[in-house]
Amino acid sequence: MKVVTVTSPGGLDKLDIAESAAPGEPGDGEIRVRIHASSLNFHDYAVVTGAIPTEHGRIPMSDGAGIVEAVGGGVKEFEPGDKVVSTFFPNWLEGPAKIGDFSTTPGDGVDGYAREQVVRPAHWFTHAPKGYSHAEAATLTTAGLTAWRALVVDAGLKAGDTILTLGTGGVSIFALQFARLMGARVIATSSSDEKLKRLRELGAEHTINYKSEPEWGKRVLELTDGRGVDQVIEVGGPGTLPQSINAVRIGGHISLIGILTGRQGEVPTAKMMAKQVRLQGLIVGSRAHQLEMIRAIEASDMRPVLDRSFALEEIADAFHHEESGRHFGKICLEF
Ligand SMILES: NC(=O)c1ccc[n+]([C@@H]2O[C@H](COP(=O)([O-])OP(=O)(O)OC[C@H]3O[C@@H](n4cnc5c(N)ncnc54)[C@H](OP(=O)(O)O)[C@@H]3O)[C@@H](O)[C@H]2O)c1
Repeated sequence: MKVVTVTSPGGLDKLDIAESAAPGEPGDGEIRVRIHASSLNFHDYAVVTGAIPTEHGRIPMSDGAGIVEAVGGGVKEFEPGDKVVSTFFPNWLEGPAKIGDFSTTPGDGVDGYAREQVVRPAHWFTHAPKGYSHAEAATLTTAGLTAWRALVVDAGLKAGDTILTLGTGGVSIFALQFARLMGARVIATSSSDEKLKRLRELGAEHTINYKSEPEWGKRVLELTDGRGVDQVIEVGGPGTLPQSINAVRIGGHISLIGILTGRQGEVPTAKMMAKQVRLQGLIVGSRAHQLEMIRAIEASDMRPVLDRSFALEEIADAFHHEESGRHFGKICLEF
C-alpha cells in the first residue's frame, strides 16, 4: 500500500511517498479500514512543513475516511462495507475535554491517514453520514467538528442568534453552514470580494472585507444596531481578537479556535471585562460530539463545501494549493 511520511525537519519538498506492507488482520476490538480520502487542515500543513515538529517517518493527516474491510472479535458497531470517518482524539470518547495537546492525534503525535489502509481500535472511527462521499466525510474530523463544538456544544447556539465568522477557512465555512442549518444569522468576513460573494450564496446575511475595512468590529456593531453578535468563531488569534471583542454583544461568546495571526499578543482585558465576554479556547471535540454532529447532518441536506481534490501522490501540490490561499472550501486527497 502507498504511504506518505514526513521527514524531519519537514518541508513540502521532503515528503516521502513509498510502498509499504499492508496491515494484517484486525485483532479483538479492531477494524481494518481502506482509507479513500483525507482533507487538509492548517494543523496538517504545520506538521508537513515542520512548523510543528514531529518524529521522522510520521504519517501525516488527521482526517481519514474510507470503508471497513474487516472487523476483529467483539466489534459490534461496524461491519465490512461500512463507510467510516476518523476521530481527532481517538481516546476522548465523551464528557468534558480531557486532553490539551496533540500527543494522541493521528497525523501528529501518532501516525495518521496519508496511507491506503489502517488497522485501529474500532472506537477511533464513527460511521460517516449516509450519502456522503469519502471526501465529504473526511472534512468532518477536524474542521467540521471544531465548528460544531464551538457553536453548539460550548456556546449553545439558538435559532435567531447572530454569529460572526472570520475568513473562509474550513472551520469558518462549516460554522456558517451549521449556523444557517440551525436557524441563526451569519455575518462573515474575508480578504477577497469574490469569496465574500460565495459566502453570501451560502447564506451569510452580511459580509465584510477585513482588509479594506480593518475596523470590522465597528462595522459588525453597526450591522447589528449596536448590539453585537452572540458568538464569534475566532480563528485569527492575537491580530483579530481585539476586533472580535468589539464585535461581540455584552455577555456574548468568543470561541478561540485559531492562531492564524500569531501565537500571542495583547488582549484588551478591560473591554472584555466590561462587556462580560466569555472567551472559550477549544481543540476539536470528542467522539460523542462527532456522533451528535453527524446526526444533525443526517437530519438535513447539508453538504461540505469542497474546493478540489488531489491524488495521494500529489499531497505536496495539495498543500501548495492551500498555501496559495486561493481555495474556498476544503481541499481533499482522494485515493
Ligand atoms: N482549535 C481547533 O480545534 C482548531 C481546529 C481547526 C483549525 N484550527 C485553527 O483555525 C485556524 C484556521 O484553520 P483552517 O484549517 O480553517 O484554515 P484554512 O482552511 O487554511 O483557512 C485559512 C483562511 O483563514 C483566513 N484568514 C487568514 N488570516 C486571516 C485574518 N487575519 N483574519 C481573518 N481570516 C483570516 C483566510 O480567509 P480569506 O482567504 O477569506 O481571507 C484563509 O483563507 C488555524 O489557526 C488552525 O490551526 C483550530
